[in-house]
Amino acid sequence: MVTGVFDAAVIGAGAAGMMAAAQAGQRGLRVVLLDHAEKLGEKIRISGGGRCNFTNIGTTPANFFSQNPNFCRSALAAYTPRDFIGLVERHGISWHEKHRGQLFCDDSSESIIAMLRRECDAGKVAWRMACTIKSLTRQADDFRLDTSQGEIRARQVVLATGGMAIPQLGATDFALGMARQFGLKVVEPRPALVPLTFDAQQWAPFGLLSGIALEAAVRCGSGKSRTEFLEDLLFTHRGLSGPAILQISSYWNPGEAIMLDLAPGKRLGDEWVAGKSGNRQALVSVLAALWSRRLAEQWLASEPGQDGTALGAMRLADMPDKTLRGLAERIHNWTLHPTGTAGYKKAEVMRGGVDTRGIDQKTMQTKSVPGLYFVGEALDVTGWLGGYNFQWAWASGAACGRSL
Ligand code: FDA
Repeated sequence: MVTGVFDAAVIGAGAAGMMAAAQAGQRGLRVVLLDHAEKLGEKIRISGGGRCNFTNIGTTPANFFSQNPNFCRSALAAYTPRDFIGLVERHGISWHEKHRGQLFCDDSSESIIAMLRRECDAGKVAWRMACTIKSLTRQADDFRLDTSQGEIRARQVVLATGGMAIPQLGATDFALGMARQFGLKVVEPRPALVPLTFDAQQWAPFGLLSGIALEAAVRCGSGKSRTEFLEDLLFTHRGLSGPAILQISSYWNPGEAIMLDLAPGKRLGDEWVAGKSGNRQALVSVLAALWSRRLAEQWLASEPGQDGTALGAMRLADMPDKTLRGLAERIHNWTLHPTGTAGYKKAEVMRGGVDTRGIDQKTMQTKSVPGLYFVGEALDVTGWLGGYNFQWAWASGAACGRSL
């Protein structure tokens, strides 16, 4: 039974879907927004530790990872962080900058969900929540959606069902399945902004350091593909996490190494050799002044000893220059081979997705199926940590909503 005929059906009432639906509805289109979840905007709710890091004022295309790096330019230029800040302020939501251009709500991410809901209401968007989409087909000039709440017909359809991160909150690969059904290419999806894991036996000594955080420079790749982040690093039982690792995880490919500088900005070898004369400090104390004592002890325990004496107990003055320089080199260039990631259950986003070479960058419409659009994280556009992924959701949603 046909239960509704619309100008546009938006599947997925997350960040990008609500933005697209609100914009189109406010232009006078009859829009329906469908989502299989019972609760609205779950990812927005949990984002930014409950305060939603809703944008980054420094957003540029360079903050995104894609096989088609220029694709995001047009939408990001047409809907900027300033545009979203303007919307937030019109709704009376107070915010603050936390770190490196990252903007958060002062109170709760609930206010962003409520704001998007009011924007949809202003566009008279119809809702179908806790609604399963059984199939999507194109017949003549219309799309037909067979849903648990009856059949819906729409002239245009927007796929805004996001990526696969956090399946426990209802994330699915629906958009990727639909892309394949309509003959579009998909860039292999993978968990991103995700902790990295290591061989259990090899990692065991460092697993004891779980909970320790420090600033580090983390890099992977070489030549043109070399990428580096200077952020905090966190030891966990299974491997490494923290912003530095989440960032590099989006660039890391299985089988590759990552390199860590655990004393960024310093030249420990030169410093130690120049200052060692008469320095009676034990090496472990020298390192403990740099990091935590636990990390200093563990690090030195894994280093080869010197003539039967544990390295940590040796005084700086008694250490040969070569040994000091070797130790410093390993601290500045700690090379690790992750065996994998903590997976979609712990990832913040999915990298890969619908290949943007089949999508118009100004409208988000597919080039091969008129009336079919993809927005948000479902596309092969992955932002860095720090509000960029929401900015992409708003910008791609707005680009689509303005052109439906
Ligand atoms: P989004 O995931 O928001 O929405 C997709 C919608 O589609 C959901 O409502 C879902 O229920 C629905 N759906 C899925 N499958 C469906 C199906 N088969 N049928 C019907 N409906 C379906 N980013 C950022 O910029 N700042 C931040 O602070 C954070 N913090 C953060 C924390 C955590 C823990 C995670 C997991 C992620 C973040 N992110 C983030 C990333 C950010 O949440 C994400 O990139 C955006 O929500 C993506 O917006 P979309 O609208 O594309 O998908």
